[in-house]
Amino acid sequence: MTIQWFPGHMTRAKRQIQEKLKLIDIAIELLDARVPLSSRNPMVEEILSGKPRLIVLNKSDLADPRTTEQWMAYFANEGHECVSVDSSTGTRVGDIPVKAKQILHEKIARQIAKGMNPRAVRGLIVGIPNVGKSTLINRLAGRNIALTGDRPGVTKGQQWIKVGGDMELLDTPGILWPKFEDELVGYRLAMTGAIREQILNVDDIAFFAVRELVDRYWPTLQERYELETPPTDSADSDEIVRVMEDIGRRRGCLISGGRVDLEKTSGIILRDLRAGKLGRITLEAPPY
Ligand code: G4P
Repeated sequence: MTIQWFPGHMTRAKRQIQEKLKLIDIAIELLDARVPLSSRNPMVEEILSGKPRLIVLNKSDLADPRTTEQWMAYFANEGHECVSVDSSTGTRVGDIPVKAKQILHEKIARQIAKGMNPRAVRGLIVGIPNVGKSTLINRLAGRNIALTGDRPGVTKGQQWIKVGGDMELLDTPGILWPKFEDELVGYRLAMTGAIREQILNVDDIAFFAVRELVDRYWPTLQERYELETPPTDSADSDEIVRVMEDIGRRRGCLISGGRVDLEKTSGIILRDLRAGKLGRITLEAPPY
């Protein structure tokens, strides 16, 4: 799904989430473990202000496990509980209701002290498009839920989905917009497949991807495409194009005159990257 985010859409999305927040105990903020910064909504603190929150690093099967650990430590240091999951297989998604109850334990204890029977913890999944919200909801529910689109008047037509004995989720996740102010954010999201290629040029996305891979994961890139010499300066665009051409030649992407078909090569690189064929890769490290 590709959404064009204009100011009116953002205002509506924010309002829809804030209406839903009135119905829930805890927000589950979903981020892409490969790009936790770029997949984070720039106004999330303001939008979710005051609500208990659990940060979930999704797609951890595709991310570098060491960097995911660093991100978990970073978020803990910022005062947020955080778990990492793979919604495509369900790995560790069971940690979400457990952590949610831990975060809300004081509220639950107060209800018990008043002689009340605590009701199920109510949660809302929020995140940018393609971060895996629907996949996670289906995984937690243990079945495929026909997700209804957002409608006006969210209290009508919304369903609670039971996930485990003592947690319920709203069936429509909160859709947030990504940061767009930084060109690199757009390219990083495109590399992971969160922004479709109609918006950014495939050659440009692959160019940025190769530059980042040269900087962070050269041995992996070298091994996958049997490359010989590393570029001497990754800031030099010609050097990056040379790496792309080497990859193209290795993959037989040639056009007349023996020139490399860069568009085809770019498609191969991006498919490999997104499918995890270049290994588990994280494009962003925590700021400290
Ligand atoms: P959204 O509701 O937030 O928009 O995201 P959605 O669940 O539709 O997921 C977007 C894509 O990410 C889907 O792939 C989905 O399978 C994939 N995905 C979600 N969670 C994970 C995860 O933890 N690990 C991996 N590897 N992939 C995940 P798709 O190619 O768009 O669709 P499909 O081929 O699965 O049908």
